[in-house]
Amino acid sequence: MSERSVLVTGACGEIGQALVQSLTKRGFHIVTADLAPLPETIKSLPVEHIQGDLVNRIKILYDYDFDIIFHLAASLSSKAEVATEEAHRINVEGTMQLLLLAAYKSEKLKKSVKFLFPSSIAVYGFPDRAAKHAAGNVKAGEWNTPHTMYGCNKLYCEKLGVYYSCFCGQRHLDPNPPTMLDFRAIRFPGLVSAFTVPSGGTSDYGPEMLHAAAAGKPYACFVDADTRISFMAMPDAIKSLLMLMDAPRECLSSQVYNIAAFSLTAGEFRQRALSAFPGAQITFKPNPRRQGIVDSWPEDVDDALARKDWDWKPDYDEDQFFNNYFLPEIKKRYQKASTRTIE
Ligand code: SER
Repeated sequence: MSERSVLVTGACGEIGQALVQSLTKRGFHIVTADLAPLPETIKSLPVEHIQGDLVNRIKILYDYDFDIIFHLAASLSSKAEVATEEAHRINVEGTMQLLLLAAYKSEKLKKSVKFLFPSSIAVYGFPDRAAKHAAGNVKAGEWNTPHTMYGCNKLYCEKLGVYYSCFCGQRHLDPNPPTMLDFRAIRFPGLVSAFTVPSGGTSDYGPEMLHAAAAGKPYACFVDADTRISFMAMPDAIKSLLMLMDAPRECLSSQVYNIAAFSLTAGEFRQRALSAFPGAQITFKPNPRRQGIVDSWPEDVDDALARKDWDWKPDYDEDQFFNNYFLPEIKKRYQKASTRTIE
């Protein structure tokens, strides 16, 4: 493949680290951007890193001609609820700045910049558990009534992405319309990686519980045992981003897609953790604010459109996730850690 230029913002986050590892295998020229320096996992890879606040450093990014932008930088749902204005600045202003850059470059170079945007199940919002349970698998257009700052930010940024790629002002009436950016978004469920631990999100109880059990540490889950949302293995999340990136434009009947893998309750997560790590100390100590957030999110989502348009299918259902991905990897990870401690 000829070298293409890719920007990954939020590269030091969980999705970012895994995505950068995959992208380097494709021979892209990669520029990463993040507030933090690159972590060990991706530090030695051939990437150019720009460290700092995206909104303040946006001018630097105009020096590059990116073919593809993965805009992963965000303040996640729990963190965003305690620092709402800051979250709005990061999530909305940051996205707006990058969309403007992509729109400008698309028009100037007459080549659509692909803009891949991770959205979230947080864009949905149910008034209570009964409504959530009654809704079952939600379609992309249903219950777009988010309760959180993060959910509002993600939903609005989806709309901005569609606006700048299709209906920017009166451009659609122009007989010689300029080249538009190519915006594509995926609404992710809770993601679980065997290699990294999340922070700042509200689906974090799933991965936190499993990592704690594997590390032999007690864990008090911040939602109750009956809480159900959909989850996905990190490799599937990366696969979905790459599949959507590669999908021919003409196959896409939407710019925003749900994807799903498996849905389970916090109690079922605990059972899985106990089977793999007998004696794991997992209790439930719901935090009302965080419980309220997860109760507003769907039990599962309908991803039929992604399956139809770009052949989406996860590699890991619930059993495969635990047996073929998470448990083998996490056991290696904590075995190594305990060996190092003993040495
Ligand atoms: N995992 C995210 C969060 O918990 C939701 O997309 O904030």
